Amino acid sequence: MATTDAVGAPPAVKSDLEDKKASAQQQIDPYNVAGEVDEQGNIKAIDYDRLIQEFGVQPLTEEHLRRFETVTGKKAHRLMRRKLFFSHRDFDKILDAYEQHGTFMLYTGRGPSSGSMHLGHTVPFLFTKELQEMFDVPLVIMMTDDEKYLYTRNKTEGHQKAGVAPEDFLDFAHENVKDILALGFDPMKTFIYTDYEYLGGHFYRNASEFESLVTFNQAAGAFGFGNSTNIGLIAYGAKQCVAAFPSSYPDLFGLKDYRGPDYPPEAKRRHKTLASIPTLIPCAIDQEPYFRILRDRCERMTDPHPKTSLILSKFLTALQGPGGKMSASDPNSAIFMSDTSSQIKNKINKHAFSGGRESLEEHRKLGGNPDVDVAFTYLSYFLEDDEELEDLAKRYRSGELLTGEMKQRCIAELQKFVTDFQERRKKVTDEVMREYMRPRKLEFGGNPSPTKP
Ligand code: TYM
Repeated sequence: MATTDAVGAPPAVKSDLEDKKASAQQQIDPYNVAGEVDEQGNIKAIDYDRLIQEFGVQPLTEEHLRRFETVTGKKAHRLMRRKLFFSHRDFDKILDAYEQHGTFMLYTGRGPSSGSMHLGHTVPFLFTKELQEMFDVPLVIMMTDDEKYLYTRNKTEGHQKAGVAPEDFLDFAHENVKDILALGFDPMKTFIYTDYEYLGGHFYRNASEFESLVTFNQAAGAFGFGNSTNIGLIAYGAKQCVAAFPSSYPDLFGLKDYRGPDYPPEAKRRHKTLASIPTLIPCAIDQEPYFRILRDRCERMTDPHPKTSLILSKFLTALQGPGGKMSASDPNSAIFMSDTSSQIKNKINKHAFSGGRESLEEHRKLGGNPDVDVAFTYLSYFLEDDEELEDLAKRYRSGELLTGEMKQRCIAELQKFVTDFQERRKKVTDEVMREYMRPRKLEFGGNPSPTKP
């Protein structure tokens, strides 16, 4: 199986997005992540403050961190402390619900566009894993093999790309499931599924109802779809949205689903008690357009659901600098979880954008800029020790620490992270994977079926 990307570079919906490609504006959506291009043609760093305004999300503040630490009794994750998870919608409400009922559902996902994930993809999963441990809550992970198939067909329509079939993406999904499980999720509290294998029953009925609530114009507005977009991709978003409803997964809460002829009568209708369990979605901000559509419709479902809460991260930048995200379609922009230690070393040394000065002399005199330095940026995601990170930034700014030294520290940290990951990945057999993918009652804290407050 190929371990490099099968999908290729964005945009997803070529013919419909061509105009936007020429624009110099910053563009962030599930299919495009690019900073503004200035008049000289340089890509600028993504402006996250502007995104907060444009998307209408809230910034994550010190107060949220304090409240989080009070509610959980634990120190916030480094990604939150450093505001790499920088914004949210109704994060406060999830904390309120947790205090009241002791539970909520976590939901996140991955679009399996290739057989190996890159370092950026691990960010929301590392964070989600820690939230799951802290809160002792159920987690569902959706693998959107259908989305990536439809997306690829949309791009290659008319190009006769051979050998692209749904099964290819199902294979990628299985490889990616193993990657995700190697990050160490609790088997008692985690359900992971691919759309091609799982969708049906209550999930599909939620999806149908949700599809009926979204017009073509609304989907086109959110994702840039046009007349030549395939209808599968247009409808797909409903599935990513209703995956946030606990009522899409009755089995996980010990209730019956409706699949096949011998269903019990009580499983025929959706289970109303599940509608009141709130959901929190951790992801990078590119996925927010889906969940904006979701939030506007949660309360319009037959069994209304509390508006889904979101906690949103920045993008782990491409090796080339802060104007784009690490992308699987450009192998030199990304470090893959399948890379060897020497590949990691070469990629950082060769491609990682430096915030250092032109000459050693200048660097010593004027100091470097860690804020745009890719090696430092990666350390801010993966180095646990706050003091060391601060010390690295300080010494870089003063000119004491050189680019080569910063890169060396980054290489050592990433090599350790990726090698440890690869060791754990070897232990995720098909059998282990299938256990996580079996619809079954999950074990978690709090009241599993809270009644409506
Ligand atoms: P996908 O496969 O594009 O991305 C998987 C997750 O990784 C985040 N992400 C990143 N985070 C930090 N730095 C990066 N460079 C980076 N690139 C990607 C994404 O935001 C996402 O959280 N349609 C989705 C799959 C999906 C999903 C979900 C994602 C289905 N349901 C619910 C999040 C939450 C997709 O293609 O993700």
